[in-house]
Amino acid sequence: MDRELNPFKPGSGLRPPALEGRDRQLEDFDLLVARSKRRNYDRGMILSGLRGVGKTTLLNRLADHADRQGWLTVTIEARPDDAGVTAVRAQLSQELTVGLRRFSRKHRIEKVVEPLIEMARRFSVDVALGPAKLTVKSTGEAAATGDIALDVEELVEEITAAIKPKGSAFGLFIDEMQDLDRGLLSALLATQHRAGQREWPFFIIGAGLPNLPAVLADTRSYAERQFAYSSIGPLDAAAAADALRVPIRDFGGDLSADALDILVAASGGYPYFLQVFGQAVWNVAADAPFDEEDAYLAVEVGVKRLDEGFFPSRWRRATERERRYMAAIAHTGEESPRSGQVARLMGASASAVSDVRDSALKKGLIWAPEHGRIAFTVPHMADFIRRQAGDDVRP
Ligand SMILES: Nc1ncnc2c1ncn2[C@@H]1O[C@H](COP(=O)(O)OP(=O)(O)OP(=O)(O)O)[C@@H](O)[C@H]1O
Ligand SMILES: [Mg+2]
Repeated sequence: MDRELNPFKPGSGLRPPALEGRDRQLEDFDLLVARSKRRNYDRGMILSGLRGVGKTTLLNRLADHADRQGWLTVTIEARPDDAGVTAVRAQLSQELTVGLRRFSRKHRIEKVVEPLIEMARRFSVDVALGPAKLTVKSTGEAAATGDIALDVEELVEEITAAIKPKGSAFGLFIDEMQDLDRGLLSALLATQHRAGQREWPFFIIGAGLPNLPAVLADTRSYAERQFAYSSIGPLDAAAAADALRVPIRDFGGDLSADALDILVAASGGYPYFLQVFGQAVWNVAADAPFDEEDAYLAVEVGVKRLDEGFFPSRWRRATERERRYMAAIAHTGEESPRSGQVARLMGASASAVSDVRDSALKKGLIWAPEHGRIAFTVPHMADFIRRQAGDDVRP
């Protein structure tokens, strides 16, 4: 088929040609926004799931919706390394400045918002320098004490006071939230908590890996009750089929029921894989309707493409020991093996490999679905490892 017309978009956070299987989250969020207009404030939302399952896409979709409904929306993406601490704080300040400016023009309340923009900018100068810096300001200006907890709370209080009379709300959308530095995370959770008690229209909508709920609970004991948690999984068979069929038909193609079954099964319902296989079947098929043969070829082409990009980009982030550890997980043949079993495959005791387990956890390569068990954060990673030949894929 004509490649120029190919509707599929494997990528990060790219708007898919058909966003399927997320009705519940979209409806819940619609309700949150609708209720906020009536000053009925519900809890913020946390979306967690494996790599490539569609968290960023969904988060962006929710932010667009809130924006269209007149919210002040700010989106940031956390980063794991130390440099990320400063960068994310600076990003928060900058996005807030931009968001406030847009908001004030749209609602024609420049006068009220101008001092808030100034506050958001000062937040960048003082707080972006990191938690170690403690400035005592002689002028006593707001949002610049250098104490991040105080500054965040003050900023949110002032902003929500200005926008509440408009029936609007402030939505802070945080991607890769498990990587947010503890200082900022704890300040934001405390502020969300305070906002709930004082009826400030402030909502954190976070997305991250499956360990995110545990990270939040470890940071603040009340985090468990603070949000509506939603785990974002692979699409069920019907939604996965629609994610392929709808765009194919919309763009002038079609496919047989057997072809569709083959592609859906190979994807395991994972949105990223659906995009890859959808793109491949469109490209390999000479004409519509795409048949079984096209589908088998597409899976072959798609898997090759994943083996050259999606998987190696994660694999390369691991050190040699972490790779051996990951290889051992893959070779157990289990979805979430016990840590002890993985250690035994490496010929070591659990305590001897606990450091490499911890470092792989910290990098987000693996996660602990329950105490004493581990699993990959990347779907189908074990198959990829088993497909490779070579020393670094043997435990
Ligand atoms: N509900 C959906 N239906 C169909 N395709 C989707 C859906 N959600 C996401 N996609 C597609 O899947 C791919 C991955 O989505 P996205 O980047 O949002 O995943 P993610 O969970 O944020 O991944 P990561 O953890 O690696 O950041 C994108 O190409 C996107 O267009
Ligand atoms: Mg993402």
